[in-house]
Amino acid sequence: MSVQSVREFISRHLAASTGLAALGAALDARASGVPLDPAIAARIDDLLTALGAGNALDEVNAADALPLLAELRVTLGSDAKLLYPQTRSIGWTHPEPELLQAAGDTSAGFAHGLTHVVAPALDGLAERLGKPGAAFLDIGVGVAGLAIALARLWPELRVVGIDTWQPSLVRARTNVERAGLRTRIELREQRAESLEDDAAFDLAWVPLPFMSEQVIPATLQRARRAVRPGGWALIGLTKPGPDPAMAAVVRLRTTMWGGPLLSTGNAEHLLRDAGFTEVVSLPTPPGSIVALVAGRRPA
Ligand SMILES: C[S@@+](CC[C@H](N)C(=O)[O-])C[C@H]1O[C@@H](n2cnc3c(N)ncnc32)[C@H](O)[C@@H]1O
Repeated sequence: MSVQSVREFISRHLAASTGLAALGAALDARASGVPLDPAIAARIDDLLTALGAGNALDEVNAADALPLLAELRVTLGSDAKLLYPQTRSIGWTHPEPELLQAAGDTSAGFAHGLTHVVAPALDGLAERLGKPGAAFLDIGVGVAGLAIALARLWPELRVVGIDTWQPSLVRARTNVERAGLRTRIELREQRAESLEDDAAFDLAWVPLPFMSEQVIPATLQRARRAVRPGGWALIGLTKPGPDPAMAAVVRLRTTMWGGPLLSTGNAEHLLRDAGFTEVVSLPTPPGSIVALVAGRRPA
């Protein structure tokens, strides 16, 4: 490709990438209630209109705006890191609190699907999560976005959240305190592959796209022991999907996050090898870049 062709490639795609940032600004104004500077607001309207999204936020309220904004903050914030050698790292080692919080806000959105779609699909899980003494193991608790959202949806649920990344755990402690959930959410600095809990949880969440491939078999064995007999482990994977460019985006992100690219078939094998039974891949909505696979500790 000539230098001129590279310039043309950049200008062909620039409107879309700046358009997402402009949409992020409009979503932030909606979510935070802090209005945009009128001069910037007019330019953002121009750009979104030119991209066919002039009325994009007409039906979006502040609560709807937050998860959309969080997703843009994580993706655009991570993408910007590709531009410098010192920030182009592999693994979840972000120092920026805003980026860590945005990942937590995104994963908080998963609590709804976990409660209303996943739990009813796995035998006995909804009953277990609703009972006094119910317990959830959140591997990779991050800033506790998912842990807090799930504790709010399941009033009997106690959560143990483990992570290795101190900057996330520091923020998680503040978030749990602010949410008034200190007595129900325990946070530990611990590696998943070193878990020692035995028959303590009804559900364990394992986010494989953020975990290095070498630790996954040991993590799943420890998770099987940590789950109560008849309880479940739920694995999250990235799913590249049919569109070649979007599939390449998903593969790039997974590699940047430090995780392996595994199919649902691979994940099913890993769960069976770790001693889980009733292993099942769960349906996710069309266009979703996440796949879910569950396995049960034999009773
Ligand atoms: C993006 S985060 C999940 C976000 C989280 N649900 C929240 O609400 O903030 C994935 C987490 O997995 C953690 N992680 C990766 N490998 C791990 C391991 N071996 N043991 C424990 N945590 C791990 C990372 O440090 C990261 O915080």
